[in-house]
Amino acid sequence: MLLHIDASVTKLGVVGLGYVGLPLAALFAHKGFETIGLDIDAARIGVLQRGESPFHYDEPGLPELLQSVMPSGRLSFTTDATALNQADIILICVQTPVDDSDNLPRYDHLRSALRSVGQVLKAGALVIIESTIAPGTMSRVVIPELEAATGGRVGQAFYAGHCPERVMPGRLLHNLRNMSRVAGGMTPQVAAAMHSLYSHIVEATIDTTDMLTAELVKTTENAYRDVQIAFANEVARICEAVGGDVWKVRELVNKSPGRNMLYPGAGVGGHCIPKDSWLLIANADEAAPALIPTARHVNRSMPLHVADLTTQALEHQGHPVAGAVVAVLGYAYLENSSDTRDTPSQAFIEVMRQRGAVLRIHDPFVEGYQQPLAHVLQGAHAAVIMVAHNEYKQFDWAALAADLSVIVDGRHILPPDFTSPAATVRVIGRGDLS
Ligand SMILES: NC(=O)c1ccc[n+]([C@@H]2O[C@H](COP(=O)([O-])OP(=O)(O)OC[C@H]3O[C@@H](n4cnc5c(N)ncnc54)[C@H](O)[C@@H]3O)[C@@H](O)[C@H]2O)c1
Repeated sequence: MLLHIDASVTKLGVVGLGYVGLPLAALFAHKGFETIGLDIDAARIGVLQRGESPFHYDEPGLPELLQSVMPSGRLSFTTDATALNQADIILICVQTPVDDSDNLPRYDHLRSALRSVGQVLKAGALVIIESTIAPGTMSRVVIPELEAATGGRVGQAFYAGHCPERVMPGRLLHNLRNMSRVAGGMTPQVAAAMHSLYSHIVEATIDTTDMLTAELVKTTENAYRDVQIAFANEVARICEAVGGDVWKVRELVNKSPGRNMLYPGAGVGGHCIPKDSWLLIANADEAAPALIPTARHVNRSMPLHVADLTTQALEHQGHPVAGAVVAVLGYAYLENSSDTRDTPSQAFIEVMRQRGAVLRIHDPFVEGYQQPLAHVLQGAHAAVIMVAHNEYKQFDWAALAADLSVIVDGRHILPPDFTSPAATVRVIGRGDLS
């Protein structure tokens, strides 16, 4: 078993070159490891082989890192899994979605990655899952798939570990270097080897533990956030109902010791928070979880709530929603990012379309929606801020308010004293109707 990790000797394979896998591969190669990145997306591999970043938004340091490390020859990209047959350690970073119909994990990508890696795995290699997985997945899915594909036993033919990732798009390299990590090994020796590996790129604490604890920690930390956001969203709706202002309430609540109420908003998106609560409870029916699924439903209802605020404000202005022109500002799930996975804007758009609204979508970062903001707003009845992109924060809303009938701020980015003599302005969590 590999206990000593040496950047000049240990060869790495990274499977899945998305938000998690690509910066990880680039950083290890930068630190001297010969690293092969594998992806099934041939177009992405083509872009990477040219030394370019596949991301169409500002991902600080990543394009420069790729350009500096590619000429060294230590980082290469392929769609051919056999290229990983000399790798001592393989890090798996494929997507792990849940199915919308039953909220259960769909491990097709994970299983297929394990099968293709397992068929070429070097004897004694260590396979680390970086993807977020439901507690119990290492023992129920990962190890059985690898045993089937290798024809050998875990602990003999190969070793296994789980080191969940904590990055955020827009801060991928920064988070990789500076966020603490949980290294869950199948044995303490494997966890120690993982500690040694990650200490080449992580400047923060690396806590070693077992695989189940690592699975639980990652899914719990994201479910925790989901529940906290749901609490803020519920208080926002209570404030709307009783005519209060959640933004003021939150500020004062947080002066009470030990309180840290989060921000309410138009919805929670991305490939992490919306699904990781479901992953946490996926194998825990016996516990009859109630709070975590309820929080998920509260957060999932927020785009619909914004649609209701918009519809009511349009009606207040004498415009029936059917036929009203509504500008949707922001299609990414996160501010200043092009990542649209599980975006709340899509849910908002679907509801408003069903109600007959004519939708114009704008997003400075998302291809297809990058027309000038002023054009999108021209002649629209309503503008609905779904994402706190800088362009919307810096926009001169006062100059435009006279041309719009309705402004709905789902992210609380309008100036605090913003009012309009002509438009109905609704801010999430604020009960007033101006
Ligand atoms: N995006 C984040 O901010 C973030 C943060 C923490 C954890 N995670 C977790 O990390 C995992 C990956 O997330 P991501 O955002 O990088 O996903 P992603 O969709 O950006 O990237 C996944 C990549 O894996 C590739 N892939 C799929 N199946 C493959 C296979 N069989 N062989 C080779 N490549 C394959 C896809 O083509 C894609 O390029 C998920 O489990 C996610 O929950 C993501």
